Amino acid sequence: MGSQHCWVMVVMFGFLFQAQLLNSQNFACNPKDLTALQDFMANLTTQLEDWASPIDCCEWEGITCEPPSSGRVIKLELSQKRLSGKLSDSLAGLDQLKIFNLSHNFLEGSLPKSLFHMPNLELLDLSSNDFFGPFPESISLPSIQILELSSNSLNDSLPSHICVNSTRIRSLNLADNFFSGDILPGLGNCSSLEQLSLGMNDLTGGITKDIFQLQNLTILELQNNDFDGKLNPGIANLSNLVRLDISSNNFSGEIPDVFSQLQKFQYLVAHSNKFVGTIPNSLSNSPTISLLNLRNNSLVGSIVLNCLAMVNLNSLDLGGNRFNGTLPDHLPLCRQLNNVNLGRNNFSGEIPESFKRFHSLSYLFLSNMSLHNLSNAFQVLQQCKNLTTLILTLNFHDETFPDDPNLVFDKLKVLAIPNSRLKGSIPQWLRNMTSLQFLDLSWNHLSGTIPKWFGSYRDLFYLDLSNNSFTGVIPKGLTELPSLIFDNISLDKSSLIVPLFSRWNESERGLQYNRFCSFPPTIDLSHNFLRGPIWSEFGNLGRLHVLYLKFNNFSGPIPGTLTRMISLEKLDLSHNDLSGTIPTSLESLTFLSKFDVSYNQLHGRIPSGGQFQTFPSSSFEGNDLCDDHWISCQEGISITDKGQKESMENSSLKEGFINGVAPGIIFGIVSSTVCINLYFKDFIPKFLSKWQ
Ligand SMILES: *[C@@H]1O[C@H](CO)[C@@H](O)[C@H](O)[C@H]1NC(C)=O
Ligand SMILES: *[C@@H]1O[C@H](CO)[C@@H](O)[C@H](O)[C@H]1NC(C)=O
Ligand SMILES: *[C@@H]1O[C@H](CO)[C@@H](O)[C@H](O)[C@H]1NC(C)=O
Ligand SMILES: *[C@@H]1O[C@H](CO)[C@@H](O)[C@H](O)[C@H]1NC(C)=O
Ligand SMILES: *[C@@H]1O[C@H](CO)[C@@H](O)[C@H](O)[C@H]1NC(C)=O
Ligand SMILES: *[C@@H]1O[C@H](CO)[C@@H](O)[C@H](O)[C@H]1NC(C)=O
Ligand SMILES: *[C@@H]1O[C@H](CO)[C@@H](O)[C@H](O)[C@H]1NC(C)=O
Ligand SMILES: *[C@@H]1O[C@H](CO)[C@@H](O)[C@H](O)[C@H]1NC(C)=O
Ligand SMILES: *[C@@H]1O[C@H](CO)[C@@H](O)[C@H](O)[C@H]1NC(C)=O
Ligand SMILES: *[C@@H]1O[C@H](CO)[C@@H](O)[C@H](O)[C@H]1NC(C)=O
Ligand SMILES: *[C@@H]1O[C@H](CO)[C@@H](O)[C@H](O)[C@H]1NC(C)=O
Ligand SMILES: *[C@@H]1O[C@H](CO)[C@@H](O)[C@H](O)[C@H]1NC(C)=O
Repeated sequence: MGSQHCWVMVVMFGFLFQAQLLNSQNFACNPKDLTALQDFMANLTTQLEDWASPIDCCEWEGITCEPPSSGRVIKLELSQKRLSGKLSDSLAGLDQLKIFNLSHNFLEGSLPKSLFHMPNLELLDLSSNDFFGPFPESISLPSIQILELSSNSLNDSLPSHICVNSTRIRSLNLADNFFSGDILPGLGNCSSLEQLSLGMNDLTGGITKDIFQLQNLTILELQNNDFDGKLNPGIANLSNLVRLDISSNNFSGEIPDVFSQLQKFQYLVAHSNKFVGTIPNSLSNSPTISLLNLRNNSLVGSIVLNCLAMVNLNSLDLGGNRFNGTLPDHLPLCRQLNNVNLGRNNFSGEIPESFKRFHSLSYLFLSNMSLHNLSNAFQVLQQCKNLTTLILTLNFHDETFPDDPNLVFDKLKVLAIPNSRLKGSIPQWLRNMTSLQFLDLSWNHLSGTIPKWFGSYRDLFYLDLSNNSFTGVIPKGLTELPSLIFDNISLDKSSLIVPLFSRWNESERGLQYNRFCSFPPTIDLSHNFLRGPIWSEFGNLGRLHVLYLKFNNFSGPIPGTLTRMISLEKLDLSHNDLSGTIPTSLESLTFLSKFDVSYNQLHGRIPSGGQFQTFPSSSFEGNDLCDDHWISCQEGISITDKGQKESMENSSLKEGFINGVAPGIIFGIVSSTVCINLYFKDFIPKFLSKWQ
């Protein structure tokens, strides 16, 4: 049986085809292409609406035929369509296909072999999917120019032979996969290569010599691998190189002094390696370099840059090395220098007088370097008219916060001087910092009251005054901060050179942010001697994400109005003298993930709805509360006793914290980055580190 049926089928198909051809305004997609697309569709577990209708496939979403009358599919572009399932091998049937872009979907499985034998394919982008397994052995894409497979789970060795049959590749991006082992020779055959991105894999060894033959290479990204040994001076042969990122590897030895041969070289990102020695002359005299990031190595000596030559230097990150001596006072001569991080080196002394003329300076990070004379530092830096961000963590120990009424920093948006044991109170002149968005003075010895005028900061969204000795009540003004009420925060989304940390969760590492704009809107007044009520007006702060008032002497009830803080994620009111009951209305705070009212004078029933189902019993202990999960309200036993021992242990741990283990914000500690920094987006890992 069968042959007759077969005939019938063939005839019917033929008929259908003709009907379709007639139906669709003279042209319809080629039957071969149609089959390939239907197979592709059938292998997906998601459907594309308009692909279901049997009209001309050239009209389908994401499909381009050219010329239209030919019915040949030349583009298949379905990026970010939430597609899942596997890629069908039959796609190879689209033999006229030039552009194939299915990036940012949920496709999985191994890469279809046939996809790597398409004669006309010029662009293949399957980045940000879940493809796994090794790269196909045999690759023959004679027309391919752009090959993007980043952010998948591909593994095994790198396809070094990729260009043997595919000689026209200009851009090869295999970053953020699990490729491992040494790079084998072969990439030297990719003579058209302009961009090679192999970052965030598990590659070992060094850069193979044949890569140095790639005369058109402009971008070489090898960050976050396990490369080691010396950096091969052969990079000098890459005469068109613009950007080199070798950060977060295990390169060691001195940085080879070969950069003067690279006439177009602009960006060197080499942080978090084991480089020793000094900054090579060819870098410190480079007329082309714009960004120099050598943070977190073991470089020594004093910093001497020839600013008269370095006319393009914009960003300098030398933090976390062993540079010593005094701060380089010639830096203001680098006329384009905008971002400077010199923190965590062995400098000492004061901020040089010459910094008064640092008119281009916008971001200055000088954490943890034994600086003294904060008063002078402010006098000098207030002359830097472009300064918006000033980070002075862990310096000026035991000095008094300067009180000079003539200080003006009206452009400053970010000021952080935590962990410096500063004495004194908050001076009046801070009031004139009208652009302030971010203030961190945590872990000092500041005392006095929190001034009323704090409420007049139009743009303030992050305030950390925790771990000081402030007294008095919370100024009502804090409940009127416009940027925490309205959705009008115009945050500076531009540059920043170092990873930033917040320790307020008191976990081992703290949370890492790379831009100030990605810190959650926060008020942290914990660990002070504040008293009085928690204002019901806090309910106004619909944009606040974190409110920490723990370890103070606040009294009175928990206002039910807090339920209007609809963005709230963390609320810690523990270790105060709060009384009354926990308002049941707080059940409606849907984003609340941390809630702690332990060790107060609260009584009554613990709300049980909403997020309250997820909070641990430790959030409530040390009160007179009851709850039908742990302690039945009928039995009338509080959970105070239950938590007693545990809390003793906790409090001795916290003591350790206070005594200096945990800085408020730490700068430049970890090299991997979490969010895309707009300014530096090209030079830092573009994706979440997969092992974080
Ligand atoms: C998936 O594609 C293959 C060709 O690669 C085809 O043989 C198969 O029929 C397709 N699967 C389904 C469920 O259609
Ligand atoms: C693929 O498509 C997305 C979305 O349109 C686009 O952002 C991306 O640049 C494309 N890929 C390439 C390599 O052009
Ligand atoms: C090059 O193409 C030939 C013929 O298609 C194939 O046999 C060979 O495996 C290809 N080489 C590589 C390295 O892909
Ligand atoms: C690659 O991944 C596959 C599946 O994810 C696994 O079975 C295989 O062992 C891995 N190979 C290597 C060399 O890691
Ligand atoms: C190019 O590929 C051929 C064939 O695999 C190989 O013999 C040759 O060494 C390669 N050339 C370079 C520069 O890697
Ligand atoms: C290198 O780039 C130049 C200029 O864009 C181009 O003319 C040349 O063909 C490229 N070389 C290769 C091997 O692609
Ligand atoms: C660099 O180029 C020079 C001359 O152009 C050549 O002699 C040398 O072998 C090359 N070095 C590497 C590592 O490719
Ligand atoms: C880094 O290289 C040093 C030698 O320079 C070696 O001792 C060390 O084990 C390497 N570390 C890692 C993590 O590979
Ligand atoms: C800097 O450190 C070097 C050793 O690395 C030492 O010889 C030199 O005296 C130090 N210079 C200053 C000014 O401390
Ligand atoms: C001040 O900063 C802005 C933006 O960061 C920049 O465009 C401008 O050139 C800077 N001014 C000076 C004098 O460098
Ligand atoms: C600071 O602001 C107050 C009023 O807000 C003003 O009287 C005073 O002159 C300002 N101080 C300076 C130094 O500009
Ligand atoms: C510094 O670099 C090393 C690798 O040399 C890395 O393991 C470490 O996490 C980095 N530390 C910081 C503070 O960035």
